Amino acid sequence: MEQLIPIINRLQSVFKVLAVDAQIDLPQIVVVGSQSAGKSSVLEAVVGKEFLPRGSGIVTRRPLVLQLYNIPKASDGSDNEYAEFGHIPKRQFTDFTKVRDEITHDTDRVSGSNKGISAEAIILRVFSSRVVNLTLVDLPGIAKNPVGDQPKDIEVRIKNLVLSYIKNPNAIILAVTAANTDIATSDGIQMARLVDPEGKRTVGVLTKVDLMDKGTDAVDILQNRQYPLQHGWVAVVNRSQKDINESKSVADSLRDEALFFESNQQYAPLASRQGLPYLVKQLNFILKNHIKSTIPELRAKINDMMLKTVHELEILGAGPGTKSQRSSILLRLINQFAADYAAVIEGNSAGAGKN
Ligand code: GDP
Ligand code: NA
Ligand code: MG
Repeated sequence: MEQLIPIINRLQSVFKVLAVDAQIDLPQIVVVGSQSAGKSSVLEAVVGKEFLPRGSGIVTRRPLVLQLYNIPKASDGSDNEYAEFGHIPKRQFTDFTKVRDEITHDTDRVSGSNKGISAEAIILRVFSSRVVNLTLVDLPGIAKNPVGDQPKDIEVRIKNLVLSYIKNPNAIILAVTAANTDIATSDGIQMARLVDPEGKRTVGVLTKVDLMDKGTDAVDILQNRQYPLQHGWVAVVNRSQKDINESKSVADSLRDEALFFESNQQYAPLASRQGLPYLVKQLNFILKNHIKSTIPELRAKINDMMLKTVHELEILGAGPGTKSQRSSILLRLINQFAADYAAVIEGNSAGAGKN
């Protein structure tokens, strides 16, 4: 998500200078798919932090609404990152393993410890200089057969829960499918199709490509022929359970992932468009396009505010400086906004920001 931070910060600083009450509301990113497809693993990789319970079987048993907030670095340049839960707002977490423990703890409190599922969301807010203001949602996987304390109609219940998040036209759906399962029956893709039949806001994420049977590959899907989506498919290799148990580092796992695609004869020609870093790039691209689409409205708000200010200055007659000085200040502000606007539209990050 780091590529978006300069753009958003620049726009926010313009709003601040102009005292415009405007927010850039980015779409929610929602992760859907079967149980153990790798949803929580993918979400963690996108956020770039380790804090979600993961593992085989049913681990995510409540929706987790993860709200990221961009805050400035501390005055000494360090990152003062912390997390807060909706259900314990006064406590600040700086140790993200404690965040994971609290998710597990509160899941048990609300859904019981015997595999029960609850629609009641856990709200987790993460404050950091390394995130953009964005909401991501991790969801329980779609399960067919009830286990433990789960009701008989568990599948329908989870599907309805998932639908309630992905039907929002402003949601970007990460349809996570494990490559070592039957992709034709992918729950993630089936659910996404219900609300986004043309595949306009769905990104296909193919996990566990490292676990496919020898002699089979996912080339057809990755070339977007089998299940075409506007934003296409990205194959990833998350950490295996063994990697997690052995605390394999993020850096090591990204290096091995790249190596996996580059050294595989089938995937090598497609390697530059696979992997977790590429998925993040894709999401940045989608979010950037979203920002572009909101700019005309923001610009209208700013123009409106300018007119009001000019009008007020005229009524007051005097103000700081002469009339021509005041106009030149306004002109400078408008130009600054125009430069930032152009930078976003053209994806030219060198263009603006020199306030
Ligand atoms: P979720 O239930 O969909 O949220 O899936 P998790 O992220 O909890 O992952 C389920 C299990 O699959 C964990 O043990 C992960 O380590 C493992 N896993 C996820 N993705 C991959 C992958 O790409 N390759 C391998 N080998 N294991 C994976
Ligand atoms: Na799981
Ligand atoms: Mg999960």
